[in-house]
This record gives sequence, C-alpha cells and structure tokens, in this order.
Amino acid sequence: MKNIIPYGKQKIFISDFSEVNKALKSNFITNGEYVKKFEKSFSKYTKAKYSLTCSSGTAAIDLALKSIGLKKNDNIIIPSVNFIAAANMAKLLGANIFLADVDRLSGQMRPSDLLNCIKFNRLKKIKAFFVMYNGGCPNFVKEFYNIKKKFKTIIIEDACHALGSKYSIKKNFKIGNCKFSDLATFSFHPLKTITTGEGGMVTTNNKILNDKLKIYRNHGMIRGKTTKYNYNWAYKIVDAGHNYRLSDLNCALGYSQLKKINQIIQKRKYIANLYNEELKELKPIVDFPKVSKDLESAWHLYVININFKKLKINKKTLIQKLFRNRITTQVHYIPTFNQPLYKSFYQKNKFKNAKAYYENCLSLPIYYDLNSKTVKNIAKKLKNIIHQSKHI
Ligand SMILES: Cc1ncc(COP(=O)(O)O)c(C=O)c1O
Repeated sequence: MKNIIPYGKQKIFISDFSEVNKALKSNFITNGEYVKKFEKSFSKYTKAKYSLTCSSGTAAIDLALKSIGLKKNDNIIIPSVNFIAAANMAKLLGANIFLADVDRLSGQMRPSDLLNCIKFNRLKKIKAFFVMYNGGCPNFVKEFYNIKKKFKTIIIEDACHALGSKYSIKKNFKIGNCKFSDLATFSFHPLKTITTGEGGMVTTNNKILNDKLKIYRNHGMIRGKTTKYNYNWAYKIVDAGHNYRLSDLNCALGYSQLKKINQIIQKRKYIANLYNEELKELKPIVDFPKVSKDLESAWHLYVININFKKLKINKKTLIQKLFRNRITTQVHYIPTFNQPLYKSFYQKNKFKNAKAYYENCLSLPIYYDLNSKTVKNIAKKLKNIIHQSKHI
C-alpha cells in the first residue's frame, strides 16, 4: 500500500551493496570468510568471547536451548509478554513452561515477577529462565544475575530488541557480552537494529556452550580440521540437529550494517526524544517509555501506554483510526497466555500487570528513515484523536 507509514523498516546503506557484491564474487558463499568476519566483528562490538551466526532469532533461541541441554520436563521460566519464539522452542523440546508476570509500563519481567513465579509454582529446580528487554531498555541485568546464582540456574537473554543497548555496572557493558548471563540471542530480521534479511546470532563466554552451538547449527555434526597436508573428509553425527547456518551473503550484509550501528541507534534515540517532546501534553493519559540514568536503550521500539479508561475509544479503535490516517502501529506483544496454543496458562486472577500492559501498550513507528516532519505529523494525528476521544 502506497504512502502508508510502517511501524518499522530496514535501512540499507549504499556501502552495504558493495559488501554483498564482494560476498557474491567469493569462492564460498556459505561457510566462507564473511561468516567469520561478521562473527568476529560482533564479538568485538559486544565483547563476548564467542559469537555464532545462525539463520534467524528463533534459530538462535533453539540453539541456545539445545546447547544447555533443555529436555522433556525441565522447568523453564519465560516472561508472559514476549515474542512467541522462546515459548515455542521450549515447547518443542518438551520443557515445562512457567510464565512470569511483567511490569505494566515496560512490559518487561522484573526480578520480583520472576521470584513470584518461582514461589507460586513452588519450583525447586529451574533449568533456565529467559529475560527479554522489551523495546530495548536493558533493565535489572545485575538483579537477574543474582537470582541466577541463588537458584543455580541459567539465564538466556532474548536480546532481539537490545543490540546496542548498554548498562552500567562499574563500567559500561553492551548487551550480548554475557558478563551477567550465560547466553544472549539476537535477530537480524529487517525491523531489528541491524538486518541481514533474515538472520540471528548467539553470544556466550562459555566454550562448552559454544562448541555445542556449532554442532547443533550444523545437523549435529562434528568434523575435524583440514590442514595443509591432511584433508579431513570424515564427519560424525552426534545428535539430531538442524541446518541453521547463515549464508555469506547475509553475513556480508550484517558485517556492513554493524559498522553503522552507532549512527542507526543515534537516529532512533533522536526519534524517541522527539516523540517525548511532541506528545508530552498527553500526560497523564499517556505514559512514555522510561530509561534510567545508568542505562542506554537501542530504541528498537517506542511503546506508549494509554489509559483508555479516560477515553471513549479502546485500543482497537485507536489503531484503526491511526491506520485510516496512513499510520501503522503495532502491539508488542499479545501475551502468550492469550494465544490459542497456550490458553491453558490463562487464569482469571493472574498476570494482572501483563493484562494491563496489553490493554494499554501501543508501538509507534520508529525507524532510521523516519524524518522529523513525519514524526511530528504522527504525533499531531495521535493528539487529535486522543483529544477528540476524551470523556468530557
Ligand atoms: C524478542 C524476540 N525474540 C525472538 C524473535 C525471533 O527472531 P526471528 O524473527 O529472527 O526468528 C524476535 C523477532 O521478531 C523478537 O523480537
């Protein structure tokens, strides 16, 4: 559809074309030099010891779960507001999933939600828990680490919203460095901070986990090294795995995009600040995303919370009204317990905050090529609709 403002969009730079071209002309367009280059530059950026490319963020999550040996009847905790990949991958491995409530403004699980989930379900053994930095702000990194230590469990950061986000504990760390987690997973879907078309990455500082990630990325296969004088043709299959490899064409794009990440985040931050400024008169009907002083968000999303009790319209109507003004918005996310597949998790008196978040949250458009004029126009349209819909 023409002239419709999407809620997110990739940015492809001119220099990206020449890098992908080089990959196309190289001898190996899979398992080649660009895979190594992208992984190496990702580790340099995040300061993680190991970075492993794969075919999507979902594949990254599946690999992370396989590397820790998640199996049937293992207990795993997942925030109730999340992209569905974590729950689906854990379900396919036969794990017992426990959903935790979230903060009603950020949509993120808090340490208290995690502890409540452990207590309520009387969990003695917890194989792992996911954290997800909904929108990009990396809250409670150290607090989650303390819970991990207390319960002798594993943290997987579903960091798909948080590439380039930073937290400050003694010094600045980037999400993905796994200083305070076991594994972090990323997506390079077109709407993410950087894109490879489709693609993903897992980072870790643990060699044993990294060795397993490599095996599961490639059919469950172990292959010896070929040296100058010894061609190692044989291979062993040690477990059933997928083909989750990312081609050199995608990796060349990722390698090139990563060079521009600061510029990309800078622009997203600018847009978020502009929305804050343009929409501030909507307070207290609308709440805005908060980033505390010691944190930096990569602004994957700009999520506002609207108190619909003060309006004559509900969220569905607002979304359609904005759409008729050619503005696309989105909801991140429909809580997992509201999905038909996971409806057994639904309970009337549970997940109060997740339900409130879902009722009120709305993601406004944010992407590199969104200019100030358009942001101001989106803000103006939203203000008009909200002012017209107020109870008198
Ligand atoms: C939080 C989160 N987890 C996982 C994924 C899955 O990533 P992909 O779409 O690359 O499989 C996404 C992407 O939408 C995501 O936002």
